[in-house]
Amino acid sequence: MTNNHEAVTVIGLGAMGSKMAETFLAAGHPTTVWNRTPGRATQLVAAGATEASTAAEAVAASTLVVISQVDYAAMDNSLQGVDLTGRVLVNLSSDSPDRLRQAARWATERGATLITAGIMVPPPGIGQPGAYSFFSGQREVLETHRATLEALGRVDYVGSDPGLSMVYYQAMLNLFCTTLISYMYSTALLGSVGISAEQYRPYAAQMMLELADEGPMGYLKILAKEIDAANYPGAENNLHMMAVGSEHIAQAFTQAGLDGTLPGAVAALFARSDADGHGLEGFSSMIETIRKPAA
Ligand SMILES: NC(=O)c1ccc[n+]([C@@H]2O[C@H](COP(=O)([O-])OP(=O)(O)OC[C@H]3O[C@@H](n4cnc5c(N)ncnc54)[C@H](OP(=O)(O)O)[C@@H]3O)[C@@H](O)[C@H]2O)c1
Repeated sequence: MTNNHEAVTVIGLGAMGSKMAETFLAAGHPTTVWNRTPGRATQLVAAGATEASTAAEAVAASTLVVISQVDYAAMDNSLQGVDLTGRVLVNLSSDSPDRLRQAARWATERGATLITAGIMVPPPGIGQPGAYSFFSGQREVLETHRATLEALGRVDYVGSDPGLSMVYYQAMLNLFCTTLISYMYSTALLGSVGISAEQYRPYAAQMMLELADEGPMGYLKILAKEIDAANYPGAENNLHMMAVGSEHIAQAFTQAGLDGTLPGAVAALFARSDADGHGLEGFSSMIETIRKPAA
């Protein structure tokens, strides 16, 4: 079906799944919902959803079955013994790329098609401008249901390998988590001398803007160019200098009596890169060390 009111089943009514079901309902889709633990569908039913009493009943209600659970083991757990013949399962849960590939084979063996997806917004962002998800799997199947799935946000198809959506998603989540954890480390360091998070915030924001700047001095832009060309000029920021500096960062955290896990890991990466002979190259040569895991 390609019309705007295709029936949809939502399995998993956590923070994400509930908002997805609410969004499908608001877009006019007949929506059936099911959650392992009962009692999470009251508001959705009041908004017009049908609550299935079993997962089998939920799957039987719609060809398109959208799943949002903590991981893919939850899908196995929920759909054990359920007839999936002819169903299109669109799973927007987090897991590893290989786990998604395994799940795609599992679905095929049961007569279903699995489309995998990584959704890039928290619950309040679902269906809002700027929301998007990475989708992978059989393109023609995704296209059949694209109009319905677009209720959640932009549909970015990234390829037929079902693991790809999670390669993109985990790359993005890695950036998100390490950036914000790094921000919290810095906030803790300044907090150790009495500076509040709010006082530090404008400095952190300025650095993040400079990193993402689209102009010629934007750090991401410069790094992307150097990495794609495998050319790492180090005249102005040689890696040895940064390796020494990263030890100073780690020492600042130790001296302040704070956790040193992240600064210690960064210093260790720089030291390995320096020892590998990248000292006279630029910061961007770190990509070579990341591509070559320590023995
Ligand atoms: N929250 C976000 O901002 C966000 C953003 C992007 C992506 N995600 C991803 O979206 C997925 C859902 O996140 P969420 O925030 O909605 O999580 P959540 O609120 O913790 O909900 C988890 C859901 O998984 C179900 N579940 C867990 N273990 C299960 C099992 N063994 N069998 C059946 N169902 C099981 C839970 O059912 P019960 O109610 O029965 O426990 C619940 O419906 C996760 O993979 C998360 O990484 C989240």
